[in-house]
Amino acid sequence: MENNNESKKVIFSGIQPSGNPTIGNYLGALRNWVKLQDEFDCYFCIVDLHAITVKQVPKELREKTLEMLAIYLAAGIDPEKNTIFIQSHVPAHSEAAWLLTCNSYMGELSRMTQYKDKSKKYGDNDSIGAGLFVYPVLMAADILLYNTDLVPVGQDQKQHLELARDLANRFNNAYSPTFKVPEPYIQKAGAKIMSLQDPTKKMSKSDENANAYILIMDPPEVIRKKVSRAVTDSLGVVNYSDEQPGVKNLLNILIAIKGSTPEELVEYYKGKGYAELKKDVADSIIGELEPIQTKVKELLKDKAYLESIYKKGAEKAHYISMKTLRKMQKKIGFIPR
Ligand code: AMP
Ligand code: TRP
Repeated sequence: MENNNESKKVIFSGIQPSGNPTIGNYLGALRNWVKLQDEFDCYFCIVDLHAITVKQVPKELREKTLEMLAIYLAAGIDPEKNTIFIQSHVPAHSEAAWLLTCNSYMGELSRMTQYKDKSKKYGDNDSIGAGLFVYPVLMAADILLYNTDLVPVGQDQKQHLELARDLANRFNNAYSPTFKVPEPYIQKAGAKIMSLQDPTKKMSKSDENANAYILIMDPPEVIRKKVSRAVTDSLGVVNYSDEQPGVKNLLNILIAIKGSTPEELVEYYKGKGYAELKKDVADSIIGELEPIQTKVKELLKDKAYLESIYKKGAEKAHYISMKTLRKMQKKIGFIPR
């Protein structure tokens, strides 16, 4: 069979199986991955080691991990073309993360905005999990183990990517060239979907207010309700402007799904109100998600099929990642077994 993977650039990305994935995850990450699978050698990981940086219920974590795999597949990620795997199945990730942790600084990690945001929730240092602090080092390990060229993520992960680049360069300089220095790959449309209740905040699956997000698995009537309740403004005119962040966010969802430009949409909604815009947004989200939801439900009935995919993915990922891990160990001065 044709195998020109050697010459293809490598893509790595992942989503945490914590909580329920939102259209932010879909439009900011997953949907873009699907477009990359022909051109690149792609590794798509379900990052369960990252998920346990906050408390998880074991049974739910198992369910969410399989559901995330089903969502990857239903969204159109082809297991024949890509390596799809579960992070905890590939021990090199945890090991490489430790080696990189010993080359990381407290200062750079404490400057990560995601850490600052998440740790705020837990109050004083005595109750902030250390996993939350070293989280971006594990992410760097994920990426660097596969000699990744490009990392397709939403805007919120850019800072973590910069850290991964710093850690790669630092290791390369301290020992000798080992890692490729990865680049972020952030698609403009969908890069930052905002909360429907507070459009100055990112849409997040961990928001306490369920009206703030739309889940990939939300039924159509729930999607309609949430979109119709989305916070807008009292101007009543559809503009694509930072002065109207709620309307802009709705337009961004349409732009990401339909591929239209802001100008086309503003022209189209001239003289029309928010109710019409909201109806179109809800219709387009439902149109996009319904086939995926049906497929996810079907896939979840076939656990043996899902297992065959994550097992095959783990084998390939294990093989590639061990090569890099051994290189790291050797350069650091560990005696090979
Ligand atoms: P997470 O849910 O934190 O594991 O994120 C998985 C992927 O979804 C990452 O690439 C994020 O950048 C992306 N993502 C998460 N929330 C959003 C959002 N509101 N808008 C765009 N991308 C997002
Ligand atoms: N930190 C990412 C997020 O929360 C998830 C992630 C973990 C990731 N490892 C990765 C994304 C490697 C890209 C590459 O969104």
